[in-house]
Amino acid sequence: MTTETLPRVFSGVQPSGLPHVGNYLGAFRNYIAMQDGHDAIYCIVDYHALTSTHDSELIRRNTHEMALGLLALGLDPEKAVLFRQSDRPEHAELAYLLSTVVPVSWVERTPSFKEKKRTQPDDVNHALLTYPVLQTADIAIYHARYVPVGKDQAAHLELAREIVRAWNARYGDYFVEPEAVFTDSPVVRGTDGVQKMSKSLGNVVEIFGDEAVIRKQIMSMVTDTQRVLRTDPGRPEVCNVCQLHRFFGDDYELIWDGERTARTGCVDTKRLLADRMLTFFAEARERRRELEAKPGYVEEVLRAGAETLAPMAAETLRVVRDRMGLG
Ligand code: TYM
Repeated sequence: MTTETLPRVFSGVQPSGLPHVGNYLGAFRNYIAMQDGHDAIYCIVDYHALTSTHDSELIRRNTHEMALGLLALGLDPEKAVLFRQSDRPEHAELAYLLSTVVPVSWVERTPSFKEKKRTQPDDVNHALLTYPVLQTADIAIYHARYVPVGKDQAAHLELAREIVRAWNARYGDYFVEPEAVFTDSPVVRGTDGVQKMSKSLGNVVEIFGDEAVIRKQIMSMVTDTQRVLRTDPGRPEVCNVCQLHRFFGDDYELIWDGERTARTGCVDTKRLLADRMLTFFAEARERRRELEAKPGYVEEVLRAGAETLAPMAAETLRVVRDRMGLG
């Protein structure tokens, strides 16, 4: 729980549906590892979700789902704080205050904004533009130094550093410059074998879906496209299925060797990956079922998390408002 002495960690996840293997390997593994020896705070960012959907029921349901998933995967509310962003509306106020030192050109050139303009051309809303400023506020409000994320968040973290530097330069040193912390799989490719795994691209392998669905997702994975015949040697370095084997067993070199020498085919390797992933996540899947059966449990965790953070958020805003000449 929050103390003055341990290094502080913050990260956030959008309530965008069920957690997938990319979230887990790219970020959640570190969330869970860093709850020991750190003062860790994790957030379901429902304000951010409003930049891409206006379905209020979906946001509420997915927020609950994501929290349930994180708890099932091993996030321990006795060790780390888990809360819902909109339960600490101070984030929104700090985002506004920070935005006053952010040149529009900085946010306009953010890769995620450019991508959203392309992928949701009918809803290029203002909040999409200021998305990274709110993300900066999320981190800065608790003075977090370490931010476990996947590589797709690197540009946002770089911008966060620039934003706090700009504010500190104008109003006096106060905010910590946050650092991204990556796992050894910072970019997990999706079932298409090319793009990063992402719910919006529809190329995910789920963690908590039906077993049959997960098997189907894995069996649909694109492998080494140059391996056409069963007898062709495979190239595990480029094959996404082979790459994923590194994280779900300690004998991946043997599996890679079978591919290189064409002793095994892609179908065998995928079937084995499906078995291993399901075994790997079996405990979490069971725990999710148990937690789901406890009425009110998730809500209680989220409520308590937000309450724990109230004094810290209030203190940051007191200082910021004071330095900026408000109140
Ligand atoms: P989000 O919700 O898209 O993803 C949550 C976390 O999962 C990581 N991730 C991946 N890592 C590797 N390979 C993949 N295919 C993959 N897909 C997802 C993401 O990098 C992320 O760490 N903007 C953030 C949410 C956010 C936030 C914050 C993060 C809001 N405020 C403050 C850190 C600190 C996002 O949309 O993550």
